[in-house]
Amino acid sequence: MAARVLVAGASGYIGSHVVAELLRQGYQVVALLRPDSDWHLEHPDLELVRAELTGSGSWFADLKACSLVVSCLASRTGGPDDARRVEYDANMEVLAAAQHWGATRFLLLSAICVQKPRLAFQREKLRFEAALQQSGVPWTIVRATAFFKSLSGQIERVRDGKPFFVFGNGTQTACKPIAEQDLAAYMTERLADPDSAGSMLPVGGPGPAITPRQQAEMLGDLMGKPVRVRSLPAGLFLALAALLTPFGTVSRRLRDRAEFLRIAHFYATESMLLWSEETASYRADLTPETGSRSLADCYRAILAGHHSVQLGEHKLF
Ligand SMILES: NC(=O)c1ccc[n+]([C@@H]2O[C@H](COP(=O)([O-])OP(=O)(O)OC[C@H]3O[C@@H](n4cnc5c(N)ncnc54)[C@H](OP(=O)(O)O)[C@@H]3O)[C@@H](O)[C@H]2O)c1
Repeated sequence: MAARVLVAGASGYIGSHVVAELLRQGYQVVALLRPDSDWHLEHPDLELVRAELTGSGSWFADLKACSLVVSCLASRTGGPDDARRVEYDANMEVLAAAQHWGATRFLLLSAICVQKPRLAFQREKLRFEAALQQSGVPWTIVRATAFFKSLSGQIERVRDGKPFFVFGNGTQTACKPIAEQDLAAYMTERLADPDSAGSMLPVGGPGPAITPRQQAEMLGDLMGKPVRVRSLPAGLFLALAALLTPFGTVSRRLRDRAEFLRIAHFYATESMLLWSEETASYRADLTPETGSRSLADCYRAILAGHHSVQLGEHKLF
């Protein structure tokens, strides 16, 4: 009989593709959603479970056991409180379900940016990664590089004749972006692979690595006209964050704003590639690759109107 898999964060950008891939491969899928989620998919092998992940665990007490668990949960704002609630607390509740069922694998989708933890959401991700590794449940952690959606936020603006923003000279950072379908396929393979138990797996899409300036040039080539590139100083984000920080003690909204600016600075200055302690540098050559879809394929589809991306909060990143 097909294994039963719980997918937490099933309504998200990657989570929804993981659900689709698992169903395509014949798994029985339980999609865990928030009580007010309007995410919907009809499939005979799909069950929707709605629950508030507040720590009571009542939602899984009577739920038929799942032998496999995947978490694609993520804070949608990255603010410190939400990061703790989602990246750590909510994941801990999903882990409690996995322990209750005696699950044979918990696959966590994490992010390669936790290699240099400077942000609240990165610290919460690492806290949960550590808890998962000590939980006794066989685990796999996938630390993905940048998603296509994170590099597609400027296409509409550029198509309207506006400039493509880069930070510094636009060559300071690089990444090997990964398509949502390729990441979902990779995660589904790892779930069934005994050798992936107990593994921390950094992964990106097919290389070579690409810089923001190269993204602008590629967009120009695909549109058949040069793209104006405008440079912004990344330090601006930190300066604004420093201005807001004192007000963060009295306003959660301003604390979240300041954290968002720090997130922006992080992505403007750090590459989404494997960090080598040995060479003290990001290494495209050491960043594992999977899949076949390129960022150019994604840009082409968006320009042709065949594809749209849910950008969420982080339109520039
Ligand atoms: N963006 C990138 O380039 C990138 C790169 C590498 C790794 N990652 C990591 O990949 C993971 C998935 O990212 P994604 O873009 O697929 O995330 P996403 O689209 O923002 O989806 C987040 C999921 O978490 C759920 N969620 C958020 N807050 C919740 C709460 N309080 N209670 C219950 N569920 C909650 C959302 O439910 P609703 O739909 O109901 O809000 C949604 O299903 C994250 O860990 C992210 O850090 C991202």
